[in-house]
Formats: sequence, C-alpha cells, structure tokens
Amino acid sequence: MSLSILVTGGAGYIGSHTVLQLLLGGYKVVVVDSLENSSQISLERVREFAQDHAPKLSFHQFDLRDRPALEKLFASEEFDAVIHFAGLKAVGESVQKPLMYYDNNIIGLIALLEAMAAHGCKKLVFSSSATVYGWPKVVPCNEESPICALNPYGSTKLFGEEMCRDVYKSDSTWKIILLRYFNPVGAHPSGAIGDDPRGIPNNLMPFVQQVAVGRRPALTIYGTDYGTKDGTGVRDYIHVVDLADGHIAALNKLSDPSFGCKVYNLGTGKGTSVLEMVAAFEKASGMKIPLVMAGRRPGDAEVVYASTERAERELNWKAKYGIDEMCRDQWNWASKNPYGYEPCVSTD
Ligand code: NAD
Ligand code: UD1
Repeated sequence: MSLSILVTGGAGYIGSHTVLQLLLGGYKVVVVDSLENSSQISLERVREFAQDHAPKLSFHQFDLRDRPALEKLFASEEFDAVIHFAGLKAVGESVQKPLMYYDNNIIGLIALLEAMAAHGCKKLVFSSSATVYGWPKVVPCNEESPICALNPYGSTKLFGEEMCRDVYKSDSTWKIILLRYFNPVGAHPSGAIGDDPRGIPNNLMPFVQQVAVGRRPALTIYGTDYGTKDGTGVRDYIHVVDLADGHIAALNKLSDPSFGCKVYNLGTGKGTSVLEMVAAFEKASGMKIPLVMAGRRPGDAEVVYASTERAERELNWKAKYGIDEMCRDQWNWASKNPYGYEPCVSTD
C-alpha cells in the first residue's frame, strides 16, 4: 500500500515539483490548492510526466481556511502525512497588506493543524524560509542561528514555526519537520513545470527569465556596494528538484518512531552573487541580460547561505545540482513557456 500524502499548495512552484517527485516515488498524493497564485495546468503537466503514476494524484480546489471543505476532505480520506506549502509569499505585498498575510498564512495553518489533530494525522512538513535568519551576523546560517522577522511575510514563517513547536510541546505524538528553504530556482529538467509568478516578479531568477524572453527590458541590480566579492548580494540558490527531494527525505525521517519536532535548512551551502548568477544564466541561455545598477532594496541582507550539515547527517539528503544546472533548467522552462502556464491571462 502506498503512503498517502496531503500536499497543500501543491499546484504552486515548489509544490508541483514535489508532487511529481512524490508520484514518481510511489506515493499517493492529494493536492489542496485555492489556485490563487497558480494554475491547474501545472498539475496536468505533472500528470502527463508521471505517466503510470498519474492515477495516484487527485486535486481539490479550495482555500484551506474553508473549514467545512477541509473537514469533509479529512473525513473522506486518511493521510499518512501532510506537506504544507499553501500560503502567500511576496515580501513587498506583505508589507502593504499585512493582515492578508496573517490571515492566509496563520489562519490557514491553524485550520490545517486542527483538522489534522481531529483526524489523528500528526505528521507534518512545514515550509519555512531562510527569511527567518534576517540579516545574519554569521554565515553559514545553521539551525541554531538567531532568528527574527523583518516583514509580515517573515513574521508568518516565524510564528508558523513557533505554532508547530507549541503543538508538539502540547502533544508529543506529533512529528513535525520545519524546512527552511534558501533560494529555490530552476525548473524540472523537462521544461514542463516551473515558476510562474503573477505580476512583476520579486525574486531574481523569475525576473531574469522574463528579461531573457523579452517581457521586461532590463534587470535592476539592487545594490552594488555590499562587502562581497563583486559588491552584489550573495545567496544560496538551490535547484527546485533538489528541494522537492528534500521533502521526500523529510517524510522518510517522519517515519522514525523516536522523531519529534525539528528544523532543517535546505540549501547547497554555497554563496553566489547576483552578478555570478546573471553570468551563469547568460552562459546557459546564450542571451544577454541588460542590467541597470541601482541602490539596495530595503530589507535585503548582504550575504545569506546555509549550513547543510544537519540535513546531510540526519535526513541523508544533499543538493546535487549547481548553478549551471539551475540556469539551464530555468532557461529550458522559460524558453518553452515564455508567458508561463496561461499566456492569455498573463498579468504583464
Ligand atoms: P507558490 O505561490 O507558487 O505556491 C503556493 C501555493 O499555495 C499556490 O499554488 C497558491 O495558489 C496556494 N495557496 C495560497 N494560499 C492558499 C490557501 N489559503 N489555501 C489553499 N491554497 C493556497 O509558492 P512557492 O514558491 O511554491 O512556495 C511554497 C511555500 O514555500 C510557501 O509557503 C512559501 O512561503 C515557502 N517558501 C518559498 C520560497 C520561494 O522562494 N519560492 C522560499 C522560502 C519559502
Ligand atoms: C527574498 C525575500 C525573502 C524570501 C526569498 C525567497 C526580500 C527582502 N526577501 O529574498 O523573504 O524568503 O526572497 O522567496 O524580498 N535582486 C536584484 N534584482 C531583482 C531581484 C533581486 O538585484 O530584480 C537581488 C537581491 O537584491 C538579492 C538577490 O538578487 O541580493 C536575491 O533576491 P531574491 O530572489 O528576491 O531573494 P532574497 O533577497 O534572498
């Protein structure tokens, strides 16, 4: 019998890649997604690629805060574990609309935890973020580094982690893994699924990709005066397929009877500057990315990269891909889908 996994936010960028890896790994997958930041086409593409495994995927479109819908789902199916991706993730928007972020990310998590508890499903993988390290004084960031929130989005991740820890403290039969992702980029090597942000992308690589396909004239480099090798910010970019595999490793860990509640970084442990990333993308795509040098973006850290030791040691997981593969796959996705999944509803 295959294990059955509920994946919230499974139509989104990281979710769709994880759903595909789960199906290929023999899991049964149930996705709940409101589609407020994604397209159902991602799951259709996942189904095509998963071939014989496709019948093991089912999809329910509703918002996690719709408690009757959630209750109905839990009453009709048994889940061995839940991977919780669903939520809003745009930092700038969270500053403009904080209550929308608290409502979605916090109330959504509470509704999920309550439904899980009510139905005796107590294994959870929660999507946290390296954003909780803020502007780290010491790199690499390890799981014991100080954490803080610099914006409402970051607060929802910090509080989400705390809520999970408190739930575990109140009932030690829970098993919870908090995954702090560094900077997910790239796409499935098939080019069939990838990142398709709505509106103007906040993150570096979706923006670079839109410049490459002619949707935007130039990339603005936010800050050239950092104390880094070339003056631009340094991050730990991780291939989204490696990240997806990290979730399978986390699920394996949850089957350890002595496991409780713990946080793990998912990164490569390597720092790459903005200009290095642009150069790698230009090499992979053969395209020239016009640049506009600008001042620092408020709230940006100088250098952030992960210590990956804990995940390597305890989850037996290590990222396989480097920035050349990330850029190759990002370009493959972009060139095949220049306007994402639904060109006619593009918000350009
Ligand atoms: P995404 O926006 O592509 O996916 C999130 C999905 O959740 C979307 O499909 C959206 O429609 C759905 N959703 C949102 N609110 C919902 C709700 N209330 N009920 C049901 N569905 C809802 O984002 P992603 O990049 O795949 O990120 C997944 C998770 O990882 C998020 O929690 C995000 O905060 C976290 N994360 C992402 C990054 C990143 O750079 N992409 C970095 C660190 C952490
Ligand atoms: C951002 C979020 C962080 C979130 C992470 C992953 C902010 C302040 N932080 O982090 O909370 O967890 O995304 O979703 O938004 N850059 C440019 N030009 C651009 C875009 C980015 O030069 O158009 C630079 C940035 O200054 C940074 C690097 O590229 O140095 C990476 O930026 P980004 O992809 O937005 O990720 P983070 O800043 O790490």
